[in-house]
Amino acid sequence: QTAPAPVIVAIDGPSGTGKSSTSKAVAAELGLSYLDTGAQYRAITWWMLSNGIDVEDPAAVAAAAGKPMIVSGTDPALPTISVDGEDASGPIRTQEVTAAVSAVSAVAEVRARITGLQRSIAAEAAEGGPSAEGKGRGIVVEGRDIGSTVLPDADLKIFLTASPEARAARRSGELRGKEGADLAATQAALLKRDTADSSRKTSPLKKADDAVEVDTTELTLEQVVECVVTLVKEKQLAE
Ligand code: DC
Repeated sequence: QTAPAPVIVAIDGPSGTGKSSTSKAVAAELGLSYLDTGAQYRAITWWMLSNGIDVEDPAAVAAAAGKPMIVSGTDPALPTISVDGEDASGPIRTQEVTAAVSAVSAVAEVRARITGLQRSIAAEAAEGGPSAEGKGRGIVVEGRDIGSTVLPDADLKIFLTASPEARAARRSGELRGKEGADLAATQAALLKRDTADSSRKTSPLKKADDAVEVDTTELTLEQVVECVVTLVKEKQLAE
């Protein structure tokens, strides 16, 4: 039996569609690496805020875009992110960062920098890298523009959608207890961020022409994962 060919899977979509949970579970099940590209944009945003950069000033953001060193750990069981050697997993999830990340990630210099990191991480994972015995080669990369811009040659592109109500309900489920966000406020913040992410000039949130769209509104996480895993295996068999 030969090892399956390396596979690169792009999973895009707006927040609250189950992207992160789905991507991690698919990667774990198939023994692939996992990259959360939203975490990278959050990390650079956190660094800007911590270093007194005015995030509403695109020129200031652009000038600083190359400064922080951002390193992502790609084990789906324990994804990590550090900035200049410091663990950033906690601080990147604060409301402050969430409120600023759309402005920072709209700056072309930031996108060029982060896109470069993403492409080299994906290439390394497809090469095999120092993967453990029995691990597949390849990676699941989740984001907004992975299939359309970052990895246009991905083997499989998935675009997840869900109704605004379902997305807000999932997000406030995640936030519950943490920040006491209520449903209406969560939905409003989510839609505001979507509009910003979808309407920016550089590499907006966009479904690639050849992406498979999966509406998760009525599906459980297990059902979405099974659907994506099946699509990956079909691709591998076809090669
Ligand atoms: O998935 P998330 O909520 O952690 O993403 C945070 C922000 O990062 C989101 O508002 C848009 C931006 N982002 C992006 O512009 N491109 C990506 N590939 C991933 C995230």
